[in-house]
Amino acid sequence: MCGILGYTGNKQAAPILLDGLAKLEYRGYDSAGIAVYDGGNINIKKSRGRLKILADMTEQGDLLKGTCGIGHTRWATHGEPSDTNAHPLWSDDKTVVAIHNGIVENYREIKDKLSEKGYSFYSQTDTEAAVKLIDFYYKANNHDALIAITKAMQVIRGSYCFVIMFNDRPGEVWGVRKDNPLIAGQGDGEAFLTSDASAILQHTKHVYYFDNFEIAKIDADGSIIFYNKNGEQVNKTLSEITWDAQAVEKGGFEHFMLKEIHEQGKAVRDTLHNQDIGIRDSEIKNISQIYIIACGSAYHAGYVGQYVIEDLAKIPVRMELASEFRYRSMPLDKNALAIVISQSGETADTLAAMRRAKEHGLKTLAIVNVVGSTIAREAESVFYTLAGPEIAVATTKAYSAQLIACYVLALRFALVRQVINQDYYNKLFNELEEIPAKIDEILDQKENIREIAKKFINANDAFFLGRNIDYALAMEGSLKMKEISYLHSEAIAAGEMKHGPISLVENHMPVIGILTQSVLYKKTVSNMLEVKSRGAYILGITTQGNAALERDADFIFYIPETDEHFAASLAVIPLQLLGYYLAAAKGLDVDKPRNLAKSVTVE
Ligand code: F6R
Repeated sequence: MCGILGYTGNKQAAPILLDGLAKLEYRGYDSAGIAVYDGGNINIKKSRGRLKILADMTEQGDLLKGTCGIGHTRWATHGEPSDTNAHPLWSDDKTVVAIHNGIVENYREIKDKLSEKGYSFYSQTDTEAAVKLIDFYYKANNHDALIAITKAMQVIRGSYCFVIMFNDRPGEVWGVRKDNPLIAGQGDGEAFLTSDASAILQHTKHVYYFDNFEIAKIDADGSIIFYNKNGEQVNKTLSEITWDAQAVEKGGFEHFMLKEIHEQGKAVRDTLHNQDIGIRDSEIKNISQIYIIACGSAYHAGYVGQYVIEDLAKIPVRMELASEFRYRSMPLDKNALAIVISQSGETADTLAAMRRAKEHGLKTLAIVNVVGSTIAREAESVFYTLAGPEIAVATTKAYSAQLIACYVLALRFALVRQVINQDYYNKLFNELEEIPAKIDEILDQKENIREIAKKFINANDAFFLGRNIDYALAMEGSLKMKEISYLHSEAIAAGEMKHGPISLVENHMPVIGILTQSVLYKKTVSNMLEVKSRGAYILGITTQGNAALERDADFIFYIPETDEHFAASLAVIPLQLLGYYLAAAKGLDVDKPRNLAKSVTVE
């Protein structure tokens, strides 16, 4: 999704903006722009396409002189990706210049009203309506920026963060947010506004998190002042980001995704040792049932968690796609626990679903990676996954950390509810301690997966099959494959093959079977043989010592033994590598797959 950055201080703004926007490229975008205040005017440059075009156009920022500015990477929602629709957008006489993340839902209505007052519109964006609305209130209120912004907030519906400059307010940059991330960074004699800390980590780790409907003004001396929606000044607490600037660099790897695949051992270890799991024993005892709510890979991690929690803690768990749950009318049990899972903590559907669960009186526990994100701030309690910043659009280490968080909860629930005893708990926890070393063992064999991936290069379709936990893994393997390598793939619960999908099997079609659950080995093997006899090329991912597929599979990848509840943490590694190496072999932009954004802050 879009990336936002504002700067004011004593350095040249344009190079800082271009550099910061480069750190936000991973979020996905189709155009970019910057605006810099040169002492008298606000100069704007923007372009469709990669940031490099903008950098070349401005001679790496040299052409735009000034120490105060704003920059944006846009992921088109309203209006095609184009130079005109790129941000910043401005009011007719450039009194107001702004960038925006989110959606202005009532932009047509605002446009109509402003048109009656003589405003005209040059772009197809929803943002332009908001910019001109702020302009209208600014001029109607004696050029008072705070009043203009608060009045505009009362009219604008939707989700947004805006970062704004006014052409008669040198050195000032204003920010406001609702349901879209925005933070203010405190530097030494300089200040920043950004949607993502990665953009400013090399300048400062000291930040203020905006609450919904809060406004901030950053000024040339580095001061930051916050206001609430009534225009009253509010005191905020400065927080320190623990991530390193280095964490957002590739560190010698060809892609962020490969780097992050290799960081999974650490993500698992750190999350396993997070002492704050967000829920007290007294609360655990009273849970009647659990809803796990998430999107995409986070949903897949929860899907594994569902099996593990039900089996270990014997609490019924229901999986819910956040985009469905938020609009569903169903009886909700007040003693249920809603566990929401989100790497970014900003996914619009997950946030809305969590709010709905809260409205219905459910206790909410969020498994989140980004500290200070909206979901983390609004959930009643938080279990942070400690995966560090994830830059590649396709999640790997955050997914692995989410799995661990689910296991830790399952174990704790089981112990507190006396379904398992302390000895068994310790045994399982020790198994979890060994996961990082086993992940590294698998990574040592990555060349084998690279070889197999090359064989898939001409395939048009693939199936991923599994049962129970292996089915949850099949969903993640299939998603990784399609999102980065663009190979169409489907995850099928192996027992469902005969109910329709098997008719799609053709000669040489890759079918990847996941077989980590011993009671189900034979069942899945039969399904694999059925597709093999119809011409499929079959690849098995299974545990060392399981010879069930030995004779029949075209290729087998063995993962080290572990307690079967936790096998997903190992079997997912070859699945991630398969998607990665296929995408790399096709020469695709692995870290920034087409049409995708890292954090989905709109519905
Ligand atoms: C896939 C992927 C997405 C996210 C999904 C939820 O690789 O990354 O499917 O898992 O968009 O995002 P978060 O976890 O930020 O809520």
